[in-house]
Formats: sequence, C-alpha cells, structure tokens
Amino acid sequence: MLYDPSSYANINDVQTTHLHLDLTVDFTKKILSGSVILDLVTVASDVSNVILDTRHVNVRSVHYDNASLKFSLDPDDERFGSALRITLPSSLQAGTEFKLTIGYETTSACTAVQWLEPSQTVGGKLPYLFTQCQAIHARSMVPCQDTPSLKVTYSAAIRSPCRALMSAIGTGESEADDGHKVYTFEQKTKIPSYLLALAAGNLVGRQIGPRSTIWTEPEVVESAAWEFANTEDFIAIGENLLTPYEWRKYDLLVLPPSFPYGGMENPCLTYVTPTLLAGDRSLVDVVAHEISHSWTGNLVTNANWEHLWLNEGWTVFLERKIIGRADGEAYRHFRSIIGWRELEDSIKHFGNSNPLTALVPNLKGIDPDDAFSHVPYEKGFNFLYYIEQLVGGPKYFEPYMKAHVENFAGKSITTDDWKAFLFSFMEKSYGAEKRAVLEKIDWEAWLHAPGLPPVRNEFDQTLAKACYELAMRWDAARNKTTFEEFSPNDIKNFSSPQKVVFLQRLTQYPPLPQNAVRELDRLYQLTNVVNSEIRFRWQELCLLADYEPIFPHVVKFVTEQGRMKFVRPLYRSVATSMQKWIRTSEKDVPGTSFLLSSNRRKYDRKGYLIILKTWLELRILNKVQKLIAFSMFHEKCISLEDERILLHHNK
Ligand code: BES
Ligand code: ZN
Repeated sequence: MLYDPSSYANINDVQTTHLHLDLTVDFTKKILSGSVILDLVTVASDVSNVILDTRHVNVRSVHYDNASLKFSLDPDDERFGSALRITLPSSLQAGTEFKLTIGYETTSACTAVQWLEPSQTVGGKLPYLFTQCQAIHARSMVPCQDTPSLKVTYSAAIRSPCRALMSAIGTGESEADDGHKVYTFEQKTKIPSYLLALAAGNLVGRQIGPRSTIWTEPEVVESAAWEFANTEDFIAIGENLLTPYEWRKYDLLVLPPSFPYGGMENPCLTYVTPTLLAGDRSLVDVVAHEISHSWTGNLVTNANWEHLWLNEGWTVFLERKIIGRADGEAYRHFRSIIGWRELEDSIKHFGNSNPLTALVPNLKGIDPDDAFSHVPYEKGFNFLYYIEQLVGGPKYFEPYMKAHVENFAGKSITTDDWKAFLFSFMEKSYGAEKRAVLEKIDWEAWLHAPGLPPVRNEFDQTLAKACYELAMRWDAARNKTTFEEFSPNDIKNFSSPQKVVFLQRLTQYPPLPQNAVRELDRLYQLTNVVNSEIRFRWQELCLLADYEPIFPHVVKFVTEQGRMKFVRPLYRSVATSMQKWIRTSEKDVPGTSFLLSSNRRKYDRKGYLIILKTWLELRILNKVQKLIAFSMFHEKCISLEDERILLHHNK
C-alpha cells in the first residue's frame, strides 16, 4: 500500500506511468493553457473513478479516447488544493491501461507558476515565467497524481514567444504562428511530480562543461559561467562516490532574484538563485548539493514528505562528501559546524518540543511548506554522519552509500525501507558484529523525538577556531570606548564561510552596544559586503543590536532578492526590532494604526516609515513571497483591517 498524507489521488487504485503536456505560455493573460495526457494503469480491480490533485486550475474537459467524461472539483482546501473526481465510462479490471486527456488552464492563483514583470528581471525588458513544484505545487501547474510515491516519464510541447526550458532533454524547436515557437522535451527517466519544471524568458545558454550549459539572462551569463566553472568536477566526484550520472545533461538555470530557494534539483536543469553569484565561487556548495540530488532525491526518492530527510539529509551528506573531496576534509567539517548552528536555530524557532522538529514528522493535515526547516537537512546529515562513525568510518560506509543508490534507484522509499537495507547491507558485507553496532542506536530518539538529536557529533575545529576567538575578543571588548586592539587585518585571511561563522558566533552573545557595532562595521566593512551569506548574518547581528543605520540596507536586501533563507529570518527580526521601537517610543504618529493590532500602543515614526517602505518595495516580490512577508508582519504587528488599507495603498 502506498501512503501519502499530502495527496488526494487514489494511488492504490490507479497509477500514472507517463504524462504529456501540451501548453501555451501566455504572458498577456499570465496563464498556461492547453492539455495534459495521462497514461494510466489500474492496480486494483473494479476501478471506476480517478481522483487527481489540483490547486486553483481551471479544468475545461476530460476525455477518455474520444468520449467526454463527467468530472467534479471538490471545494478548495488551503493546504492541499482540490480533488478532481473523474468518473470512468465503466469499471476497469486490474492491469488495464488507458489514457485521459484533460483540457485546462492555470489561473493567477496558481502557487506553482510565477509570472514576473519585466521590472523583476535583470534585463528589465521582457517578462519571465518559472514554476516551482516542490513540495506539492505540481497540482497547481497540471492536474496530476501529485505524490512522490509514484514516478512517471514525461514529454512536452511548449508554445512560447521566448525560449522555454524544462526539467528534461530538449528535443527540438519549430516555428509556430504569432512569432511563437514550439519547444519539445522528453524526460525518459521516471520522475516524481515535484520535479516537473518549466521556465521561459529572455534566456541564453553558454556551455561550461561536457554535459553542462548555463542558462541565464544575457546580462549575467558571463559572471555565472565563471562562478559555476567547477560543475563538471563535482559531477565527476559524485559519479566516483556513487553510480554513473543518469540524466545525461546537467544544465543550470540562474533565475531572477525573486526565486525563493537557493537551488532546486530539477532533473537536467538545476535552478539556482542569483544570490550565489558572489564573484569568488564561495557559494558553490549549493551546486554540489543540487548535483547530489541527482542520486538522492531524483533517483532514490522520498515516498512522501514525512520522509523528506531521505532526500535532503542524504543530499547534504553527499554534498559534504563532494566538498571534502574538492576542498579538503577541514572544509567538510567546517560546513558541518555551520549546519549544526542552523539546526539549533531552526529548533529554537519551532520550539524544542514541536513535533515538526522530529526527523520523521507526522504530516497528516499539515501543509509540507509549513513543516519546512533545516531539520531534515541537518538532523538527517548528523544521523548519517553518526552512523558512518559508528560502523567504522568511510571505509565501511562509502561502499554502503553506493549500494543504497544501486538498490533503490528508480524507487520511492520510506524510512523503514532505508533502515531495512542498511541493516541487511552491513550484516551481509561485514558480518553480524556490524549489525550489533546498529542495534545500539537510539532509533526512537533519532527518528521520532523532537528537538536536538540524542548525540552531538564532534567536528574538526581547525577552521572554526580563529572565528570563535575573534568573536570572543569582541565580546570581551563590548563595553570599551575605543577599539584599538582590532584592525582590518583580523579578518584579512578569513574565507567567506569563516566570516559567516564569526558573525554567527557573535550573535550568540548578548547584542553588542551600538558603538561596538559601528566599529565592527568601520573596521571590517560589513555593510557593503556583496556576498549574500555574509550580508545576511551581518544584518541579523545589527537587527539584534537595534543598530538603526542598518535598516535601509535590510529593506534593500529583502526587496532586491527573495530567497526565503534570508528573507524570512530578516522579516522576523525586523518585526521584533520594530516592536521594540514601538514600545520605547514617546510619540504618537497619526495614521499609523496598522503597525499594531492594538492602536493605543505607542510607536516610532521611523519604524512606521520602514515598514511602509518595505511594503511598497514588496511589489518586486512574487506572490508567494508577498504572502510570506505578509504573514511575518501580520503575525507580529498588523491587523486585518490594516491589511486591507495596505493592500489598497500598494496598488
Ligand atoms: N529541494 C530543495 C529545495 C526545496 C525543498 C524546495 C523543499 C521546496 C521544498 C533544494 O535542494 C535545497 O535544499 N535547497 C537549499 C540549498 C541547499 C544547499 C541546502 C536552499 O534552497 O537553501
Ligand atoms: Zn536539497
């Protein structure tokens, strides 16, 4: 029996094997319209209906051969969308193959499909479209069985006025009417629905490796090609550790700045945020991560979103193996230290006993997007790291990694499947003694208990030590009036991630006094840093210290890019900071009631202006980010009435 709490589809009755998309990209109406043909096979007897997932799509027709079928849409559920119920012409016996053709179009409410105005692109002249389907947004791009427990091959014909790309191999392009072209694609390796992806815009390609082309708007193709020049090296290391690369091409698409993730492992076409373009190749571990998904995630797939750690924890583990091979073991350990800190932050934010901080959470009734955090990544990584040590190190564990991929390639698996194979492999390859070692693990705590893991791994501190020491010196000097003991030389030899760790460490101390923050900035020039990871931690530190000169820079940062990793915590800190001003301010400013749900409280004009400015600038964000930003503020300081006023102002 297949189980997926996030899907309505009757996957134990009938399963999709192939999907063909025939769509027009309409930038004027901001819709995708056309049809999908689903190849289905029944896996139970007497199947008389097909239930598909949808979310805010307009279904126009359903056909079985040439016969039009009856269908109905359930009321929309905010978390899971709306089930599409299709009645088959007769009830079918197990093993019956058939096709359904569904005519449909997307709407402006579709959560998978983002239409960007020309002003939201680098070039500023042409509009842009991209889809983001993970975790359960594929249903908002195409009616389908939107579950990772099933895998399908797909093909597509996309009619578009500008270049279209998909998570598949391009098989051709031909002229169509109205200056449009039809781009065709084929994905011959079976994929789960969340890996469907389509982008269209003013895109150019530049080859950067034997199987890799980088796609971007023309303005940034040069810098992107330079930044990601190591791509082939990473793929080769992955092949060395695991199995030959399955997907033929590994292209990268650099998205416009509002793309909400760091990267997305769409097969044949990884998406990345332009915030990785640091100019020093220091953020390419995201590419190592997405490449690793080619094995864990895209070949071996989590059966449902409760087992996300099998995708993300495994992938972080492989990503760090690649970084270890490419840059040295010290870097692998250093990245692991950064990751542990992110795990601590996530658990603190969710709350130590929040069930969503379990490695395998129960997602019945919960939107997977609401459960998303660093937990599956870093708790998952730490679990695998711990097991690797326990069984005797890489000599024993690396052959197992490869066997894991060979054994489960093409399948969707649960944590139980993973565990059973781990036990059987270790026993078969190394004897009963290794099995006994595994039995000593506190499985219950690792897999099901909330909060931090039961074991804390030791990582090599070589690269972290200097960062910690410098942070300690600043803490010790916090109340001084002069800071002569510090100079730009303190961080001259720090790599970018070392600056990150220095700042992360410093935010663990109580907030620094204003003049210490000012000196820190004067000496190390942090406000003007381009590297997004450093910029993010610096702004966090300043907000915690209520350092007002940073506010306009925060507004700039959260409005010029939309990566959730940066934007969400910054909005949260801004809101907290804002509340502090409001509480400590003396004056009442008329017309600013939206700052507080109770408008009798006092607030500061500066706070008001910044929120307002942020709100106005939010116009460059896409709707998903607006929603997130909005809920962040809303949670802290805006009433429903004010929401209406603001949205009105914002038009
Ligand atoms: N597959 C994820 C992104 C994702 C996860 C999208 C869940 C939607 C739901 C991707 O591989 C990822 O993990 N991206 C990270 C970067 C990585 C280096 C940790 C990100 O976006 O920050
Ligand atoms: Zn990932």
